[in-house]
Amino acid sequence: MQTAEKASPATASVPDMKDIVALCKRRGFVFPASDIYGGLNGFWDYGPLGVELKNNLRDLWWKHMVTTPPIGPDGMPVDIVGLDSSIIQNPKAWIASGHVGGFSDPMVDCRESKKRYRADHLLLNRAMTQPISKIKGKEVYFVAFDHKAERDEFETRLKKLGFNTNQRVEIVSDGKVYEFYDKELGLDKEKLEKVIGPDATEPGTLTEPKQFNLMFHTFVGATAGEENKAYLRPETAQGIFLNFKNVLDSSRVRVPFGIAQIGKAFRNEVTPRNFIFRSREFEQMEMEWFCHPDEAKKWRDFWFEQRKQFWIGLGLTSDNVRMRQHDQDELSHYAKEGLGTADIEYRFPFTAPGFGELEGIAHRCDFDLKAHQEHSGVKLEYQDPVTNEKFTPHVIEPAAGLTRGVLALLCEAYTPDPNRPSGVYLDFHPSVAPKKAAILPLTAKEAHVPLATKLYMDIREHFNVDLDIKQNIGKRYARQDEIGTPFCFTIDDQTGQDQTVTVRHRNTMKQDRIGMDHVADYMRKNMLTATGR
Ligand code: GAP
Repeated sequence: MQTAEKASPATASVPDMKDIVALCKRRGFVFPASDIYGGLNGFWDYGPLGVELKNNLRDLWWKHMVTTPPIGPDGMPVDIVGLDSSIIQNPKAWIASGHVGGFSDPMVDCRESKKRYRADHLLLNRAMTQPISKIKGKEVYFVAFDHKAERDEFETRLKKLGFNTNQRVEIVSDGKVYEFYDKELGLDKEKLEKVIGPDATEPGTLTEPKQFNLMFHTFVGATAGEENKAYLRPETAQGIFLNFKNVLDSSRVRVPFGIAQIGKAFRNEVTPRNFIFRSREFEQMEMEWFCHPDEAKKWRDFWFEQRKQFWIGLGLTSDNVRMRQHDQDELSHYAKEGLGTADIEYRFPFTAPGFGELEGIAHRCDFDLKAHQEHSGVKLEYQDPVTNEKFTPHVIEPAAGLTRGVLALLCEAYTPDPNRPSGVYLDFHPSVAPKKAAILPLTAKEAHVPLATKLYMDIREHFNVDLDIKQNIGKRYARQDEIGTPFCFTIDDQTGQDQTVTVRHRNTMKQDRIGMDHVADYMRKNMLTATGR
């Protein structure tokens, strides 16, 4: 595959999310759910090309984890089996896992703007010790901002509210902005009276932070009472822990081994945002790796490297990918002990020049197995058949977002190019491209269409290809560029004479001529299987 040199992220201009979202809708990757009814915040539908892209990523992850898992430190492939567990489980499982009690975000409402914010996403200029201004006769000590606010927005807003320049510059430039929700400082009613919310025009309109559980619930059976309440899973991981014993008893796996699962997860996020980055219904690809507690570090380091290479193998530029260890105060309840969690982060356009989480690799210790053992009364220990040692395995968990991964692939692929009619092309790695090739008769003439159809019928058995007959050839190339098809094979007058076709490369727009009966081989050679290794 010939690929044009990509500008390094330092020099490349960051694409605008608006353009990516527009292309996704225009070409059928992602639509707002219930679009004709005005959408539903936090829910998205994957169109004809989006579902292909998502399935390709899903299948490559499955291959990487389950069908051909990586080679372990001993030179042999590691053992991982698959699972597809139910979305709704016995509600006791979510009590044991800690989700009923603790899976919540602090939330504040604004009585004036009617907007809702995650308290831990608001920043406050706590540097002010004097009232900085009086608004509508009320003193203002604190101004709250959304954590994504840019310096310009800070300044414009502070100016509007009547700050003097020195204060303004100090607040922004010496970093004296603080999290709104400060566990030590608290936020009493009196202080809230002096805070002006991010979208408010007067102080005192923010409510006290309230814990808001993120799990969606429903009722199982005909009556809708507390006793019938059940939850939509907020992570696929728990289904794996619930089946630890079943898998162990029914298959030949021995510790260390993994159980992998891909599927939907649901979270009633307070602020779904950034397109499909944080949605309320999404898909995860999670693997729980069960190992001896003494080997947790070895396997954590192993999975770290494997997972990073996986994403880079799919075309994410290494400059756009980084690892970040969680600070102690951001760790989930299950990762407070042990080695903590490290994220694989991607430089999304809306986080640039910063990064956003793509996948977390957590050392969950024996938290989940022990919790389910305690609540269910069923022993979830493991006895080593060689040493007879009994222990509760520790878990290393690489947990990736499938739909968030789709977004990273789309953002990485989006390449503006003023030198082509479409003005942009998607530079997908061939292994994830929704369509691997397009077969295009140069014209709708009798001489071209039957040959193109024949080629299409031969190739479609092996690859997901498009036969596109309508419109002029320039428009068809433009469409294939915009959907990221790596190759276009064009049938013209010469094809009838010497059985050759042109092959046009997406990134360079260069054309070669090859024999019609070599197309399948040519594609096989150039599809560059992405295993992430
Ligand atoms: N079992 C561990 C777990 O669920 P997490 O960090 O909450 O950990 C894992 O989620 C991954 O799932 C994240 O790295 C992210 O890619 C994806 N994810 C989490 N919440 C999401 C949301 N609201 N929308 C889209 N993807 C999400």
